[in-house]
Amino acid sequence: MAARKPTVEGFGIDIGGSGIKGALVDLQSGELLSDRFRIDTPKPSTPERVLDVVAQVVAQAGHKGEVGITFPAVIQHGIARTAANIDQAWIGVDIAAVMRERLGVPVTVLNDADAAGVAEVRYGAGFGVPGTVLMLTFGTGIGSALLVDGVLVPNTELGHIEVDGKDGEKRASGSARETKGLSFEEWAGRVSRYLQVLEQGLWPDLIIVGGGVSKKADRWVPLLQNRTPIKVARLLNNAGIAGAALAAHEAAGGSATHP
Ligand code: BGC
Repeated sequence: MAARKPTVEGFGIDIGGSGIKGALVDLQSGELLSDRFRIDTPKPSTPERVLDVVAQVVAQAGHKGEVGITFPAVIQHGIARTAANIDQAWIGVDIAAVMRERLGVPVTVLNDADAAGVAEVRYGAGFGVPGTVLMLTFGTGIGSALLVDGVLVPNTELGHIEVDGKDGEKRASGSARETKGLSFEEWAGRVSRYLQVLEQGLWPDLIIVGGGVSKKADRWVPLLQNRTPIKVARLLNNAGIAGAALAAHEAAGGSATHP
């Protein structure tokens, strides 16, 4: 049997609109080494209540080292600057600092789509792709991550680009499909239009589509009418967790390499 490299472990937590999920991650492969510990996102999702849940997730997992956390907002140097799909009380909070104080370990915080993009480029659909990769997550909102030769340009917020007079994610997010009862054909038309607007200003070499709805990618991705090559995210729901764990590991000075 071939000798396996010793595992480099990290821990990632994905804070989403409906659930807060955490798991231990193999940083060489991006695979999860444990079950996902999931607790519903409290409503309202105020800082104190979310902090309690994050602490519970870490305690359940029994993890002791550094933690990477995704957050569905612009995160500049650990501080939340927006709050489109999370409680407004987060704006201005130094999330990295409050989490560090609460958990007692080093914490790295980054935008949820940025974390997913980092993971897809390191372990998934964008691995080995030279040039500009745009990752989009279609969930409650639309998250975006722009990576150039593997280096993240953080906080691109392309979900809020205006499409035919409306916020892009209001028309084309995964939840827009659900709440408006759109068929996959109808929704794919909206996603195509949204991507065409992005393509007016960007020429990525690859677009990776992720988020919950990418589990049913065969129903809508073949219907998209765009000039850019499109691939479906490989890490599906685990991309945020894996990307956050990797970011925290690297911030702590570690370097895990792809096998
Ligand atoms: C937020 C982004 C986030 C995306 C996905 C958007 O509404 O503005 O920061 O990445 O939703 O959660």
